[in-house]
Amino acid sequence: MAAIVTFTKLLQLAVSIGSYHHPPIPEDKTTPFQQRLSIHSPTGKPKEKEPLQLTDWVKTALLTTTFPSTEVSVGWNTYGSIDHACVEYGKSEHDLSSKACASSKSTTYPTSRTHSNTVTLTDLHPATTYYYKIVSDNSSVDHFLSPRTPGDDTPFNISVVVDLGVYGGDGYTHSEKDKDKRDTRPNVNPALDHATIGRLADTVDDYELVIHPGDFAYADDWARKYHNKGHGKDAYQGILEQFYGQLAPIAGRKPYMTSPGNHEAACKQVKHAPKLCPEGQSNFTDFMHRFSETMPRAFDSASSSKTAQEHARKARDLSQPPFWYSFEYGMAHIVMINTETDFTDAPDGTDGNAKLDGGPFGAPHQQLDFLAADLASVDRRVTPWLIVAGHRPWYTTGKGKSCKPCQKAFEKLFHTYGVDLAVFGHVHNSQRFFPVYDGKADPKGMHNPTDPMYIISGGTGNIEGLDPVHPQPSYTAWAYADDQSYSTLNFLDKHRLEITFVQSATGKVLDSSVLHKDHSTSFVKNS
Ligand SMILES: *[C@@H]1O[C@H](CO)[C@@H](O)[C@H](O)[C@H]1NC(C)=O
Ligand SMILES: *[C@@H]1O[C@H](CO)[C@@H](O)[C@H](O)[C@H]1NC(C)=O
Ligand SMILES: *[C@@H]1O[C@H](CO)[C@@H](O)[C@H](O)[C@H]1NC(C)=O
Repeated sequence: MAAIVTFTKLLQLAVSIGSYHHPPIPEDKTTPFQQRLSIHSPTGKPKEKEPLQLTDWVKTALLTTTFPSTEVSVGWNTYGSIDHACVEYGKSEHDLSSKACASSKSTTYPTSRTHSNTVTLTDLHPATTYYYKIVSDNSSVDHFLSPRTPGDDTPFNISVVVDLGVYGGDGYTHSEKDKDKRDTRPNVNPALDHATIGRLADTVDDYELVIHPGDFAYADDWARKYHNKGHGKDAYQGILEQFYGQLAPIAGRKPYMTSPGNHEAACKQVKHAPKLCPEGQSNFTDFMHRFSETMPRAFDSASSSKTAQEHARKARDLSQPPFWYSFEYGMAHIVMINTETDFTDAPDGTDGNAKLDGGPFGAPHQQLDFLAADLASVDRRVTPWLIVAGHRPWYTTGKGKSCKPCQKAFEKLFHTYGVDLAVFGHVHNSQRFFPVYDGKADPKGMHNPTDPMYIISGGTGNIEGLDPVHPQPSYTAWAYADDQSYSTLNFLDKHRLEITFVQSATGKVLDSSVLHKDHSTSFVKNS
């Protein structure tokens, strides 16, 4: 008898070690998890009549009268389906007197244990602290700063993370080769080293939003952990639940703007055919469920130019959140693009070389038509800074991960419409390039260049580890792969954008540069 008990115990132990990890299901199935905020369109329509002379005073009056309020969407997951998801909010923790509810019930998909909910909070005063509580018997109050109105020239910072994977037993932990660095790190639980998320938490008052263009949980890397073998379907979901739980303290406090990367595409990478993925684990399904309702469509134009308004309307119609869209925040117009599908030879498309069989998510040419209209709509008198963020870069040290089809699809448009800064990841390290077009550095460098400047901010830390820095093209300004790092974009004023790279574990500034731009032309169009 005793021997049998021992044997059973051993068997249970073996099963618990050799098995995927699922977070526990709460008793109260309305408990919110995986909270995520997003900037939504401002309400209000642009004025029809063009002012005769756009003095600063008129401009300010125009901006404040046409966009008196902004919107923020709140997304979260629950372990039960919810018919009427609601959020209470207000300007004080003790007075959550406004209430907004979802227009439809929560959504889910095959293999998911959770359900996605989205509620959009409307009529927010810009740049104001709001408190919110997702309605549940088991939720607490958090807060956020509502978005700045387009044209508000108050300095602000954005944190940029790409390729940020799940931490802990199913993801990133320090490998043997990192051991010697351990002594120089703060004392963190080695099984759960949130170096980058930890730094985002520590500096939470220094930035107003986060952009994350692709590669989130690395759920498709489940097979890298032995205990997940034979449990792919459940391990994939377990990793998604853990990762978005780990992110919630940041994404539930700061607008967290996303676009897709290759790791969102399908259950397994390259080696296995995505057609064999279980239903629900191919074709960007989780990414779509999680973010399609929270990410915005391109905004109505805040410009007084009729042409700009028309371009913006077209861009709005062609935008396809969460895959491609844009938003405006203070001095910045930010475009999120999809480097994975929806252009010729897109790497994760049905004919793409990554063999991930994803998309298309729009009509033929829709993404590029969107981008052309969106970039053409940007009035530098309102939003001087034009930033584009996507996943796969074409400028990178070494050749391996340079996305040539992406370059062919996007680079000319960036040049034509005077994009100031392009942000990418995919390569797991930090890199900064001088302004460049078609492989040639802009002779003006960082002082009012015509060509866009490029950065890679993919060294934030995931299960695949860091990529070494390869031989550097001449327009490389700086590259770093010694430790986890990320970047911040500091919008100092309409002429100066500071780009800073930070070591995640210590907060040490690794590299800092300032891009100077005159921004003297309202609508840039280079030949
Ligand atoms: C309440 O929420 C916490 C997480 O915030 C969870 O751990 C706990 O199980 C929940 N309680 C119930 C009764 O569901
Ligand atoms: C922007 O971030 C820097 C650190 O990189 C910080 O010193 C500065 O105060 C921040 N600025 C604003 C406006 O939050
Ligand atoms: C992926 O999803 C999109 C949108 O639902 C759909 O149009 C497309 O056909 C799907 N692609 C594949 C390969 O299933």
